[in-house]
Amino acid sequence: EKGGYDHFMLKEIDEQPKALRDTLRGRIDESQRKVRLDEVKLTAKELQDIQKIHIVACGTAYHAGLVGKYAIEKLVRIPVEVEVASEFRYRDPIINDKTLVLVISQSGETADTLAALRLGKSSGARVAAITNVVGSSVAREANDVIYTWAGPEIAVASTKAYTTQLLAIYLLAVFMAEKRNTISVQDRVEILQALQMIPEQAAQLVAAKDRAKEVAKGVVDWNSAFFIGRGMDYTVALEGALKLKEISYIHAEAYAAGELKHGTIALIEDGIPVISLLTQPDVYEKTMSNVIEVKARDAKIIAVVNEGDMKAADVADEMITIPKTHPLLTPILSVIPLQLLAYYASILRGNDVDKPRNLAKSVTVE
Ligand code: F6R
Repeated sequence: EKGGYDHFMLKEIDEQPKALRDTLRGRIDESQRKVRLDEVKLTAKELQDIQKIHIVACGTAYHAGLVGKYAIEKLVRIPVEVEVASEFRYRDPIINDKTLVLVISQSGETADTLAALRLGKSSGARVAAITNVVGSSVAREANDVIYTWAGPEIAVASTKAYTTQLLAIYLLAVFMAEKRNTISVQDRVEILQALQMIPEQAAQLVAAKDRAKEVAKGVVDWNSAFFIGRGMDYTVALEGALKLKEISYIHAEAYAAGELKHGTIALIEDGIPVISLLTQPDVYEKTMSNVIEVKARDAKIIAVVNEGDMKAADVADEMITIPKTHPLLTPILSVIPLQLLAYYASILRGNDVDKPRNLAKSVTVE
């Protein structure tokens, strides 16, 4: 059932181009200008009425939600709050019939996420879900469901679920922006064309396994690593750090690059790996200045950059390049080398990649 692979995780990383293609299929109309989400029953009027969105999820799905905040606020201009379900459900959040609660859950069975969905409903909010499992509790109880078509995810560490969740979020963001008239046709076409290239670009990245393995060799001797970035890069840093922690057991911290000097930079020592994400053009220089600061303290810089980046090579000890895409979409691509890095770090440390200690695939109790 592992189809010739040693581990489900690597199989599932490799399945991402197909999972992305399947999740995209039929959802962009022939004119290349519109997103089709026939399953979403929200009317144009209901969409107009939404004043706030709460994205609620756990773990990796929460990290997908963070990307959702950037994409939706940028394209739709509705305020978005993102929260882990175990916090949201116990803090009496402000929800009413002008609120959209969007839950994200691969399994559709995570106890806290389901409870958040129910809280949204009982408070009068419209509830939408992004999930991978047809007929799951979340799918049955949400008003609207957008499925990711990633296929079964067996490895505990989530990979193809995350990238397909991002795809679903982008589709939803463009869909809402079009309905609320907050996006030009030109911007829509640009994003939708870039989205259609993503599966092929993901294929290039999953093929670059040797590179990831090389980089992993430089990380495994450390008990600590840092992931830094700004904007969407920061959200991917969080996901990269989680992947590394859960399967390699290396303590990893993700930091918004600009926050480093407010405390964490004290931990930077000679040779420590700092995975630096530099894919966002509007904050590139800002992040670069933080990278130079940690480099000056002899950190080992592993830079994740866009193809064609001419500057990073001057400071980076290792470079990982992602294919050119729309700046809003880089998380789908930049996370893939980080998944591979975590995978090889785990292998090199002799861990059980698919079943990391203390973790279960689906957390159906709180
Ligand atoms: C991390 C991971 C977990 C899940 C989280 C939510 O790799 O897999 O953090 O993302 O338990 O699970 P779902 O998406 O099934 O609600």
